Amino acid sequence: MEYLKFEEQVNALLKKMSLREKVGQLNQQVGPCNEEDMKRLKDAVRKGEIGSIIMAHSATAGNDPQQSINMKMYEELQRVAVEESPNRIPLIYGRDVIHGHHTVYPIPLAMSASFDSGLIQQCYRCVAKEATADGIHWTFTPMLDLCRDPRWGRIIEGPGEDPLVGSKLSEAVVKGLQGEDISKEDSLVACAKHFIGYGASEGGRDYHRTEISDYSLYNYYLPAFRSAVNAGVATVMSSFNDINGQPVTSGYHYLTEILREQLGFQGFVISDWDAVHQLIKQGVCETEAESVALAIEAGVDMDMADGHYINHLEESVHSGAVPMDVVDQAVKRVLRIKFTAGLFEHPYSNKETLDKKEHLKIARQMAVKSMVLLKNDNQILPLKKSQKIALVGPFVDERRALLGSWTLDGCAEETPTLLETMIDKIGKDRIFLNKDLNGLYDNTVETAAQADVIVLALGESEKVTGEARSLSDITLSKDQIELIKTAKFTGKKVIGVMFCGRPIAMEGIAEYLDAILYAWHSGSATANAVCDILFGDAVPSAKTPITFPRRTGHIPLYYNVTSSGHYVNGYYNENPQYSYNDSLSSPYYPFGYGLSYTTFLYTDLQCKNKTLSIEEIKKGKKYTVAVTIRNTGDYDGEEIVQLYIHDKVASVMRPLRELKAYEKVFLAQNEEKQVVFELGKDELGFYNSQGEYIIEKGEFEIYVGSNCLTENKCSIFII
Ligand code: BGC
Repeated sequence: MEYLKFEEQVNALLKKMSLREKVGQLNQQVGPCNEEDMKRLKDAVRKGEIGSIIMAHSATAGNDPQQSINMKMYEELQRVAVEESPNRIPLIYGRDVIHGHHTVYPIPLAMSASFDSGLIQQCYRCVAKEATADGIHWTFTPMLDLCRDPRWGRIIEGPGEDPLVGSKLSEAVVKGLQGEDISKEDSLVACAKHFIGYGASEGGRDYHRTEISDYSLYNYYLPAFRSAVNAGVATVMSSFNDINGQPVTSGYHYLTEILREQLGFQGFVISDWDAVHQLIKQGVCETEAESVALAIEAGVDMDMADGHYINHLEESVHSGAVPMDVVDQAVKRVLRIKFTAGLFEHPYSNKETLDKKEHLKIARQMAVKSMVLLKNDNQILPLKKSQKIALVGPFVDERRALLGSWTLDGCAEETPTLLETMIDKIGKDRIFLNKDLNGLYDNTVETAAQADVIVLALGESEKVTGEARSLSDITLSKDQIELIKTAKFTGKKVIGVMFCGRPIAMEGIAEYLDAILYAWHSGSATANAVCDILFGDAVPSAKTPITFPRRTGHIPLYYNVTSSGHYVNGYYNENPQYSYNDSLSSPYYPFGYGLSYTTFLYTDLQCKNKTLSIEEIKKGKKYTVAVTIRNTGDYDGEEIVQLYIHDKVASVMRPLRELKAYEKVFLAQNEEKQVVFELGKDELGFYNSQGEYIIEKGEFEIYVGSNCLTENKCSIFII
């Protein structure tokens, strides 16, 4: 009910507003670039025809360089709104601050690899402080699109393939951005996007159609949004895609019946950029006026960028095509958020001073905890600071790619390179360089001859990730694969540091590397975090939040699959003989996988109470599952202990493994701890195709271990 506490003010204001002004509140326009834009926007704001401005200039702000925010212009437009517009309603300024503002944190997919909600929340608190200081009130974050297809460029913006990881990320980001009190000056209004199913874009092609069964929608695609709503997210963005032929922008079932009525969302919905107009291209209406009627009646309250609401909504109300009450409800939702976010009290930028050094420190911690150690044969890592290192590859000197896509305000020039941070760490005398990639592999051989080990800086640029940046082949470039082989043939040990946005297809790459540190695009502190891990100043702990396939052709490949009736597919398709005739189709690295410099031993898995009745579970009784973990290696370290369930017999096929709980534990050398999980109604049921949550009787296998392939299990029974 948080968003209903200003009802009196909202109703009083609504009464005074003309229809034109009401429609204005539902209109989001693109920000000014020059004086001409300013004049046009000021006139419109003065008349009350604009409710919000997006601080961007193109539809794909994640890829196109954007102008930095011109505070003078925005403050002036706000002044006009609060001093000269008919009812003095402040504008709400929105910008895509996806994984950092000036200080850039790892891409959300990488942050998800940390399984560390507390730290993620802390990062987004810093993001909110930096963004509000630049006059931003609202950001289009978190992006919560569950995705099983790493060809899709936008996979970097979200949580990966698991609904629980998505739900935890969602809660952490919303709480971090909106803070404890959304009305405070340093709180940023969050927007859960893209509702819903965009991550299922067919073939990983951006903006494509999706086919999603109701069962999958409820069990996979919705949980992260449910979690955002429960965490109090103030706004939601509808998605571009259609589901089974129904564009979401005109989908009453999705935006009203599911989002508002079933999930209980009380904030307002904004369309995606130009999406109202796109209803015409999607072929569900002919005219702009019709697109407006479809969108607002479906539940899109605010129209982003295309101007259709402001151009047609008044006329549609007059003609009776759109009932006045539909407009009033939408306006009320927008006003509620403006009141609740404190915009009437503090319409301008947050004037608090920032501690950017502290933000960078947190960014470095986050980057360290996001990087996954995929391979470490013969414990070649960590390196000794006295070792001589051949530093080779196209990412040795790279800055921009490390920040990742969707970093509108991050500064590449201020982002240290791997070379710079390595010099800081071990001095330049021990580093032998070869940055050439143009066929001069013989240089690599020569460089390597002088060194003890080779560190290859590999990856993909930010330009092949993000919006409208999908790939049909997700392996490394041919040049880099050649380089890896050349390095291997020198006979030296080879460490691959991979700066990528998505999981890449590892076949033909990983075999040639002795160690692999998957560094992602981890933001401002990427290179520092890599050196912290390479030289043992930090111990890696992250786990893959998404399956790494061997080949692109294996997509989709995800861990929470059901069992095949035939013997063709074992769990995860691991049957070597039958899945594909031309390759082994099990994952290269499974979900939840990642190494540490130390080792952990799991013992004594027990389910303390093995049997409960459905009635007891519905009343809140829980099973208690305990496991003991011991650090058996030579380093202190953190382990992400994962609990999966398998509902063995149910009315519909249930996944062979479903992550239901996890905990990150720190263990000093030789230390032992017991980790206790509780399993109750939230973990043991599922949604049927009607969206009803049900719990069924029977045996559940409980797996607890260090990734989804663990065989460490016990059973519980629901009677
Ligand atoms: C994207 C959104 C983004 C919006 C505004 C759209 O093209 O799909 O995620 O928030 O642009 O930049």
